[in-house]
Amino acid sequence: MPHADSAFVPSDIQTKCEFWNHVHDQLQGLLEGQRNWISNLANASALIYNALLAFPAHFGPGNRAVNWCGFYIDSAFFPAAHDLDQSGKLLLGPFCGKPACQFINITPGKARGVCADAYLRRETILVPDVERYPGHIACDGETKSEIVCPLLLEQGDKQIAVGVFDLDCLALEGFDEEDKAGLVRLADLVVKASDW
Ligand code: SME
Repeated sequence: MPHADSAFVPSDIQTKCEFWNHVHDQLQGLLEGQRNWISNLANASALIYNALLAFPAHFGPGNRAVNWCGFYIDSAFFPAAHDLDQSGKLLLGPFCGKPACQFINITPGKARGVCADAYLRRETILVPDVERYPGHIACDGETKSEIVCPLLLEQGDKQIAVGVFDLDCLALEGFDEEDKAGLVRLADLVVKASDW
């Protein structure tokens, strides 16, 4: 199967639960034979973004579409930080959508926004209305709701946060608990399938 076809959503997929299970299986196949995190996150964002756009029923009528899907990764995992002081930041990783903030501060005391909060708390944050979220960083003024899921790597008895997975929506209340469950599973899959 050509790689692009993995984002196809068959018509017998009707519910969100079926949708997320389908995307999970497609992602598993797509990541096979590759452990480079940059390549894997690139294909994960492309698959999830395009599958969501191919399943508009998910977001209901009208303009309820996902407008950004991607990753911010702790600068410590990037190959080279050169002279720039990149420590204490999440750097923009692979994504689909319009250009976004290059970095997000995660230094305690300076951290702000949904991504930093999800990363530091190590918990998924559902934001039904971004204007009501204190500290929300607006990369795109058209975004109305958001969900951010931390990427958690198990290392022995330790759990390390390597970054976050962020989805934005043009409608209020774009995501719900079912999406949260689906995304947490996808985040776990991509973390385990990659070398960090
Ligand atoms: N809204 C995010 C910033 C990232 S963009 O949405 C792509 C935040 O508040 O952290």
